[in-house]
Amino acid sequence: MSRLQKSAYETLKSTYVLPYAPNPLDSAAVFGNLHDVVVEIGFGMGIATAEIAAGQRDVNFLGIEVHTPGVGKLLSEIERLGLGNVRIIQEDAVPVMEHMIPKESLKGIHIFFPDPWPKKKHHKRRLIQREFLQLCADNMKHGGYIYIVTDWQPYAEWIIDTLEGVPLLNNPYKGYAVPLPWRPHTRFEHKGIEKQNSIFEIYAVKRSGPP
Ligand SMILES: C[S@@+](CC[C@H](N)C(=O)[O-])C[C@H]1O[C@@H](n2cnc3c(N)ncnc32)[C@H](O)[C@@H]1O
Repeated sequence: MSRLQKSAYETLKSTYVLPYAPNPLDSAAVFGNLHDVVVEIGFGMGIATAEIAAGQRDVNFLGIEVHTPGVGKLLSEIERLGLGNVRIIQEDAVPVMEHMIPKESLKGIHIFFPDPWPKKKHHKRRLIQREFLQLCADNMKHGGYIYIVTDWQPYAEWIIDTLEGVPLLNNPYKGYAVPLPWRPHTRFEHKGIEKQNSIFEIYAVKRSGPP
């Protein structure tokens, strides 16, 4: 951790990092308002997270990340930009989504550049699995969205195929989406662009009834 990240982690953690607990979160109590909640899973250093939250201050953002330097960095950005609409949970996203996020509560889920685990023997470690997308869908409001971006084409194809196995989620683009105008490039994405990697955007909306 840089000195800035370490100092932000020590001084701001108690204010903005919510302890993991296997109980549904009361977002009105946590954020002090009834605004919509968007979850971001694996925010990395949180640069894009902070930029999105700064541009949408009437939306609450809950970032889930395990990497301590990234948590420190986002904490420093929360302070620098005065982001009262961001909280962090430093824990594996799967139990958080299973136990802390109330059903039908989320306006959106962002998953930008999830680890691709390219080797076949490691595919089971990929975050995006049918069961996980089902869990995401259960936690989304009707009309809520899930937005996933990757620069690893085989993973992009895997995500599109896996989405098709979750009837609650509708991909209005049928294939890849167009980049949403408010999405800034992430830190990981910048490195991919330098290597001239293609970027694949995947977007789906929760249906209000059977397909
Ligand atoms: C490839 S990085 C992308 C980071 C960031 N989204 C970006 O685009 O710059 C993937 C991130 O997901 C985090 N991550 C992976 N699995 C996770 C999980 N189960 N729960 C929470 N975070 C996770 C990693 O710690 C890492 O920071």
